[in-house]
Amino acid sequence: MTSNGYDSSVASEIIASFDAKPELLIQILHQFLERFTYISKDAIRQLASELNLSRAEVHGVVSFYHDFRTEPPGKHIVKICEAEACQAMGSRQLSEHAQSTLGVDMHQTKDDVTLEPVYCLGNCACSPAVMIDGHTYGRVDAKRFDELIGRLGSGKLGGKK
Ligand code: FES
Repeated sequence: MTSNGYDSSVASEIIASFDAKPELLIQILHQFLERFTYISKDAIRQLASELNLSRAEVHGVVSFYHDFRTEPPGKHIVKICEAEACQAMGSRQLSEHAQSTLGVDMHQTKDDVTLEPVYCLGNCACSPAVMIDGHTYGRVDAKRFDELIGRLGSGKLGGKK
């Protein structure tokens, strides 16, 4: 992640790097997410204009894919895998535990921590898997989750449960 300040010139450069092809909208959105951390209303407006799509079309894609958050995330992003292999190893219970521990629902932010579901981190052999600030951890149970969260450096989060 670089910045969450939207810059329409940078956005135009990203769009141009994909030759402003509307069929590459998803790839462009991923680049926007990497650069701006979320897809703002300004971003949707500019994408629609420069890709010759309607705002509804862009918004439809953004809202369909869970990856494309539309609100600024916290300083820390915690993702819990809810795909099949992880579910079989208890990720649903882990998600409930995470929501309770962090005091947020999925897709919400509190105390600078954003909690999100993700659908396979490529770590299925070590389910359930969690990603925190871009680092993947395997075989995460409630106890390990709390330890990992405790390491984020927020005194409010460490040592709960
Ligand atoms: S299903 Fe969770 S890492 Fe693949």
